[in-house]
Amino acid sequence: MNRVLSGIQPSGPLHLGNLIGALSNWIRLQDKYECYFFVADLHALTTGYGNPYQIKEYTVDLLMNFIAAGLNPEKSTIFIQSQIPEHSELHVFLSMITPLGWLERVPTYKEKKEQIKDKDLDTYGFLGYPVLQTADIIIYRAKYVPVGVDQIPHLELSREIARRFNYLYENEFFPEPEALLTDFPKVPGTDGRKMSKSYGNAIYLSDNQTIVTEKISTMVTDPARKRRTDKGDPAKCPVFDLHKIFSTEDEKKEVTIGCATASIGCIDCKKILIKHVIETLRPIWEKRQELINNPSLLIDIAHEGSKKAKKVAGETLKEMKEVIGWIF
Ligand code: TRP
Ligand code: SF4
Repeated sequence: MNRVLSGIQPSGPLHLGNLIGALSNWIRLQDKYECYFFVADLHALTTGYGNPYQIKEYTVDLLMNFIAAGLNPEKSTIFIQSQIPEHSELHVFLSMITPLGWLERVPTYKEKKEQIKDKDLDTYGFLGYPVLQTADIIIYRAKYVPVGVDQIPHLELSREIARRFNYLYENEFFPEPEALLTDFPKVPGTDGRKMSKSYGNAIYLSDNQTIVTEKISTMVTDPARKRRTDKGDPAKCPVFDLHKIFSTEDEKKEVTIGCATASIGCIDCKKILIKHVIETLRPIWEKRQELINNPSLLIDIAHEGSKKAKKVAGETLKEMKEVIGWIF
């Protein structure tokens, strides 16, 4: 069975956009592939090294969300990156053969450095971010990596590094990983921009019913509908983008017609959405509460996942050392 691997950085609490964009897709992949999913805590350190304590908290919360959202430790190997030191060790070996120019050319490197002004990202670790990501992937010889389009340059680099290792030491030792792109619908935040923790417009998996209701109730709508009697256009309304994800065909029709003819108000339109979002989140909330009440559940899951991951990662690392004659 082909292997699939992916990770998420614990750089903030998980939101609805992450759930729709990444996690729900992972959950589907669990039945088709041998899956490895992990919390990329070391990657979060590349930008968040100023506050490692915070990353630690987000790491536990993210692992909890993995399980609460439906990743199944019976089907997938679920773990925390730093618990498998083999990733870091392979990263050191790969760093020796990765030309600086390749890293400096990665578009996300320059973009992020320009975007994030409140942190000093002129560090060795930040430049090496995609090398660590490569180690994450090829240490399991994963074939497919489900990621968003923003990660394509990283995947391309992973392929190049794998190819370079194979060229230098042994043909076809590391398979070249492929990105597994899945179209997912646009998930707008409460201000209409893409949902993102840095915009302060996100609905978090850890929010409760009151907060979700409040956030959607105050969400921006088609600016043309200032009064209840104004007609609107769902195509210009971020609330409708969420309806597309969560509501039934009949409801979408009702809203489309109702909005265009002003027969339905934004408050009623949002009520339908609120009901669905809460229905989606309720089982996640319940599962989160269960995990909070029994901390040993999560500890056991992390422990089991680490054991399984470590076995595979350890074997690859050992074989890699044999290939380069690094056995003492
Ligand atoms: N860079 C990825 C992101 O920010 C997270 C990540 C780290 C990852 N290692 C990975 C994704 C390995 C896929 C495979 O989303
Ligand atoms: Fe948006 Fe619904 Fe209001 Fe139309 S009725 S503007 S779709 S919130």
